[in-house]
Amino acid sequence: MSAFDTIVHLVYLACAVSFVIGLHLMNAPATARRGNRISAAGMAVAILTTAVVLGHGGVVTTGAVVALVIGAVAGGTAGLVAARRVKMTAMPQLVSLFNAVGGGAAALIALGDHTATTQAAVTGALDVAIGALTFTGSLVASGKLAGRIPGRPLVVPFGRLISAGLAAIAVLFSVWFVGDGSNWLLAVVAIAALAAGVLLTLPIGGADMPVVISLLNACTGTAVAMAGFVLESTPLIIAGGLVGAAGAILTKLMADAMNRPISAIIAGGYGTGDAVTVSAGSASAPVREITADDAAIQLAYAGKVVIVPGYGLAAAQAQHEAVALAEALTAHGVEVTYAIHPVAGRMPGHMNVLLAEANAPYDQLRDLEESNPEFARTDVVLVVGANDVTNPAARRPGNPVSGMPILDVDKARSVIVLKRSLGHGYAGIDNELYTDPRTAMLFADAKAGLAALLSGLHAYAG
Ligand code: TAP
Repeated sequence: MSAFDTIVHLVYLACAVSFVIGLHLMNAPATARRGNRISAAGMAVAILTTAVVLGHGGVVTTGAVVALVIGAVAGGTAGLVAARRVKMTAMPQLVSLFNAVGGGAAALIALGDHTATTQAAVTGALDVAIGALTFTGSLVASGKLAGRIPGRPLVVPFGRLISAGLAAIAVLFSVWFVGDGSNWLLAVVAIAALAAGVLLTLPIGGADMPVVISLLNACTGTAVAMAGFVLESTPLIIAGGLVGAAGAILTKLMADAMNRPISAIIAGGYGTGDAVTVSAGSASAPVREITADDAAIQLAYAGKVVIVPGYGLAAAQAQHEAVALAEALTAHGVEVTYAIHPVAGRMPGHMNVLLAEANAPYDQLRDLEESNPEFARTDVVLVVGANDVTNPAARRPGNPVSGMPILDVDKARSVIVLKRSLGHGYAGIDNELYTDPRTAMLFADAKAGLAALLSGLHAYAG
């Protein structure tokens, strides 16, 4: 091995280490940004090093260099602009779009590369099958989340039978390709996998899309790792392996948090995703309303307050108002924490990201397991734009949220729910919490409502 090769391998090793360290730092909100930067820097160095290796080998033509530069600039600019412009609430569909691009790129690598060994042929066939399936699957998932494709499960007649047939074709032609090596066989695998990606994702309901996106993300990682074997690229294998493993773990955690078996999600039919909104006062049992001033006084008198943020906080972009209210209460001598449900909002970590943006102290953030034992000794729970994650109906079978672990806010001495109406959440069902005698409804937009609570608190407490 030449000195150049040794240096290249060492640089690639350093990049791989930075991916692992970055991923580890993403475990906690306080270090997540640093982790992201470290991983991104590692990826930038890996890409630059690959460019240097290509230039050093002298194997790329001028035309290829021009194509690479145009591709990198166009792709990089599109990614940057999309990521900067996207609203927080539209992040899941953007992630899914990026994922589609990753899967598609991984599949194209194997389609374009002439496989010399049996190992490369096997991994190449796997790369094409998984990458192509991920490409169309992620596009459909993104379309569902963006509302371009209906969120409800779209059942294709004989869909499962056709998917099984497509899987059989992909396996058969992959085996043939490994023995024969002709690229047209790989093209058939790609077409079967592209069709299977659409057929498998269409019947899955919008509410389960985050789990599906995470699963597809794991598939992209696996396809990228396979592409690494085809190209004999260690950093690609490591990066793909990490994404695959992280995606698989996240899929399991999210499926557990929503209490859905992964197999049932893939089989489809769960979750409508098309939430229905009803107006205030439409629930059958009476609800108790409260004014912002009365709610502010109740908060000021409390010894312990827990704030439960949900999708409505994100929709209203009310995170700064929530943190300002928490700070004012803390200054007034009230103990304040935030209870964060793992699937509150519309993407994993949604509430953590919003609260971190508003500089909520990390030591006040509690997850589901930490929060639930605390509610019994909580004076007031302030639910801001959260719905399904607090619905006691989850404790009974027979409804769309059955079995989902919830935040046990109804165990607290009193609950104030701040939202615009008695409208449904993502699961599309009534929330029994609203008719609980201990619950008072503060009907307002989250941002305006929190601002009113803050001024009420100032007026009362000075
Ligand atoms: P949801 O159950 O979706 O309820 C959100 C509530 O926010 C709605 O009932 C709505 O009521 C209220 N709201 C909307 N805009 C508002 C505004 N401007 N001001 C005040 N309130 C507003 O939210 P959740 O409790 O966070 O639960 C999340 C749900 O989404 C779960 O069912 C979960 O399974 C699903 N899901 C989660 C994810 C991930 S990974 N987090 C992804 C997709 C789906 P009003 O219209 O009455 O105001």
